[in-house]
Amino acid sequence: MKRIGLLTSGGDAPGMNAAIRAVVRTAIYFGMEVFGIERGYAGLIDGKMTQMEMRSVSDIVQRGGTMLRTARCSEMQTLEGQKKAADVLAAQGIEGLVVIGGDGSFRGAKDLTENFGIPTVGIPGTIDNDLQYTDYTLGFDTAVNTCLEAINKLRDTMNSHERISVVEVMGRHCGDIALYAGITSGAEIIVVPEIKYDMDDIVKRIDRSRASGKHSNIIVVAEGVMSADDFAKELQAVTTHSVRSTNIGHIQRGGSPSMADRMLAAQFGNKAVRLLKDGKGNRVVGIRKNSIIDMDIFEAVSMKKQFNYELYETLQMISM
Ligand code: F6P
Repeated sequence: MKRIGLLTSGGDAPGMNAAIRAVVRTAIYFGMEVFGIERGYAGLIDGKMTQMEMRSVSDIVQRGGTMLRTARCSEMQTLEGQKKAADVLAAQGIEGLVVIGGDGSFRGAKDLTENFGIPTVGIPGTIDNDLQYTDYTLGFDTAVNTCLEAINKLRDTMNSHERISVVEVMGRHCGDIALYAGITSGAEIIVVPEIKYDMDDIVKRIDRSRASGKHSNIIVVAEGVMSADDFAKELQAVTTHSVRSTNIGHIQRGGSPSMADRMLAAQFGNKAVRLLKDGKGNRVVGIRKNSIIDMDIFEAVSMKKQFNYELYETLQMISM
């Protein structure tokens, strides 16, 4: 394979730039040409791309966001849209495509493979950590660290005023950001879409913690359950403690990627290009038990995300 395309799609995630850099530099190392496609599949359909050189990706390893920009593209869900994308790739002589994004982006890659025979490799780039085939997605670690910084600050002020803080984090339908941020921030309670919450039980836990000398409480609510505002209202109706709500929002999608995300980006990007170079398409890359893996894209997108109940129980036991 001599010429490949590269795009970022869906919600951006810290580490996407570092992955772009790894893809471009690995491809150049192997004597391949790389075309950077702007604004995800929307830009591909419009033929918006430029050839990337060694220096096109200088000074981006530490930057959040994506230099290629990104978009969500409903046209790619139609056969006509996919055909337009395939025609653009053929006209440019692009033989394979690296897609950095989440499950929606992988479905686009799978469709290009299935319906038009274009070899694609997916790199999991989303803060949500909602893909079952990989232990971690690119951007998750940084997003959780950003949530931790916010929660640390909230703890200071909640302690002073002896309040309860309800903090909303992202994750779409997945509770992983709430679970990891909850455990590592010392939050007493997490509320996730995977487990039905019981407000009486939450109030009991809070009261127990106050009786044992605690001055504040942190409750991390995943956006897939409800907003922090709504949860805070529901809680305030049944507790005498003062409740405040905070939505961390898009702040958790930005920022310089952590070491863990930069390392994943380097390894994922490198592996994706090696696969295409060896003529292997229709794959996704990921990490399992600390090893970089690849697997069939069809299989990967059909796997259902499993919640880590053991971690949830750990939080119940150690946060009080
Ligand atoms: O998939 C990443 C994500 O940040 C989700 O956690 C969130 O539900 C969604 O994207 C927000 O999308 P948008 O940036 O389009 O509002």
